Formats: sequence, structure tokens, C-alpha cells
Amino acid sequence: MIYFDNAATTLHKPQEVIDAVIKAMTSMGNAGRGNTSASMEATHTIFEARENIAKFFNIEDSSNIAFTSNSTEALNTAIKGTLKSGDHVITTMLEHNSVLRPLYEMEKRGVEISFIETDNLGNPLYADINKLIKSNTKAIICTHASNLTGNLVDIKFIGNLCKEKNLLFIVDVSQTAGVFSIDVKKMNIDILCFTGHKSLLGPQGTGGIYVKDGIEITPLKSGGTGILTYEKQQPSKMPTHLEAGTLNGHGIAGLNAGIEFINKTGIDIIRKKEEELMWRFYNGIKNLPNIKIYGDFNTNDRCPIVTINIGEFDSGDVAEELLAQGVSTRAGGHCAPLMHEALGTVNQGAVRFSFSYFNTFEEVDEVIEILKNIISSI
Ligand code: ALA
Repeated sequence: MIYFDNAATTLHKPQEVIDAVIKAMTSMGNAGRGNTSASMEATHTIFEARENIAKFFNIEDSSNIAFTSNSTEALNTAIKGTLKSGDHVITTMLEHNSVLRPLYEMEKRGVEISFIETDNLGNPLYADINKLIKSNTKAIICTHASNLTGNLVDIKFIGNLCKEKNLLFIVDVSQTAGVFSIDVKKMNIDILCFTGHKSLLGPQGTGGIYVKDGIEITPLKSGGTGILTYEKQQPSKMPTHLEAGTLNGHGIAGLNAGIEFINKTGIDIIRKKEEELMWRFYNGIKNLPNIKIYGDFNTNDRCPIVTINIGEFDSGDVAEELLAQGVSTRAGGHCAPLMHEALGTVNQGAVRFSFSYFNTFEEVDEVIEILKNIISSI
């Protein structure tokens, strides 16, 4: 099988990640919950992972990072924990439902939402942002890249604007962490939401949220923390403030190994390989008859994603044919309803090819040939 659905989850994990999970599953107790060497082992591994993640995103104090089960949980925490009735929030058409659905829930609770419109390639219209800011605007929430088109969002620009206007800047880096350098200081990010199972190469069920010092955030969950047992409230100090219940220590050990793999290999080398795969695929298919390619390919700064349609054929049918020939992609709506609306692909959906460091140029060439054959046979 040729796996080109890495934007959904990376299938091929480094052996180090698998080894770390197995080691954790055979040695870890419950972090901070027992007087055992196994518990100490868990505490130590989770501490090391937090430190490594802090360095990775240039976060000064690792205790400002709480682990979550994915970026959806992180984004729910960020959105529901900081916004209240009467607040206004600005977001983009590129967002995933992990941002949109919590926002729509908050809309019902009195939060007002404005959307930054996009151009015909699916890029946010940056010049419009200023016009959307109002006296009650509390935050700008946006993804670092569209999971549908691969277009990057200029989060440095938006971060600067947020700083200037004193707005909270909440960023979803699900599609970019592990491939693009993310620096919370340089990008003025107040709350960063990440997932472990995509380009960070960790196991599913891992992720986290960074909350800058001084930001008030209400936890989504409360419960056992292993500390301050006799207090009725969830502890106010990070990271326990946002970490109730036993952490996914086994997964976090794997995530830590994923980040160590990226550091050892070099994020620039990983990105270069993924970009080369994407451009080879794009150049190999762009002139095929009946092909429509979505997103902005006039820039080198984009995620390794190529999303297409063939004529008016249903994207699900095209993906089924690809699968029958051994190629895994993702078709349909990609949990990105507004981006599909903006591109006019709500009914047809689209077929997304997304690449990882572990894909090969031979696989790309093979899939180009398969697509050529599918196009000429229909
Ligand atoms: N958000 C993931 C995707 O884009 C699951 O496929």
C-alpha cells in the first residue's frame, strides 16, 4: 500500500517511537501517584517529554505545557476556557471542525464570531483583519495551515497584529508541527494547540496545549492530579491546572521519541524531503486532462499536501479507485466545511494526497502513473 494520507495521521513511525512505547508499557507506573520506581520512571519520562516539547516550540517554562489527548482537546480547552458571553472572536475559513464546532458552541453561549474571508486560492485576506477588530474582540484563533489545501497561514503577521491590538492569539499547529519551525515567542503565540500523531510522529492519543503565563483559562476537566488532594478545586498552577486524571504516559514516551527523531534528523531536512515529494507529484499531474488542483502553488511556503478533483467525478469514487490500486488518500469533506464552501467543492468533496518523510520518490512516480491511467479510463 502507498500511504498518502499523512495529513490525517502519519502511518510510518520511526522505530525509536515504537521502541519507546514498548519500553514505557513494560516499565511505567502512574506518574506522581505512587512510591514506586515505576511511578518515578513515568514522572521522569513525562518531565523529559515536556522539556523537549518546550525547547521544540521555544517555550521558556515547560510547566506551561499541559498534555492532552489530541489537538481537538487542546482547542476545546483554549476556546471554551478563555471566551465568555459578550466576547468577539476572529477566525478563518481554513479552520478544521476542531476549531469551528467549539466556536459554534460558544456562539450559542453569547460569543460573536467573524471570519476572515479567503481569495480564490484559499488564502486568508490579511488586509481585512483590521476591519474585523472591534472593541470587544478578545482573540484571533487560526490554524497554521489548511488541512485541505496545504496553504500556510502567516501566523507571524497575525501574531504581531494580536500583540499590537492586545488580542489573545490561539494557534492550531496540527498540520505543521514537526515540519515547520514554530517559535511561540517570535510568532507572539499565546496559546498553542498541537497533536502528537501527525508530523510529530508520535502515537495517536497524544497532544498538548501551551498557555502563556498570565492567561486565565478554565479547565475543561477536573479530577485527580496526585497533588493538593484535599482542595476542592482543580489546582490553579500549570500544568496540573489542565491535566486531570492519569496521563497517557505510554503515548507521551512515544511522542518524546518522535520529537527526538525530528531533532536528530533535522526539521529542515524533513521539510525539504516532504516538499520535494509534493512538488514532484504536483508537477507530474498538473497538466493532466480534467484535473483540478486546489490551493496556492505560487509559493514554496506550503504544507506537503496536493488536493485534486478529476472533472466532476465524485471524490469518494476517485479515492475508491485509487485504493483499489493500492493508494491511500482522503476524500470528502476533511472536517473543513468552510474551506470546501470557499472552493466550491461541498458536493464533490476533493481527493487529498499528503506526504511524509518516509514516503519515497518512487511511490510518487507510481501514483502519477496510476492517476494518468484512471483519467484516461474514465
Ligand atoms: N484532521 C485530520 C485530517 O485532516 C484528521 O485528515
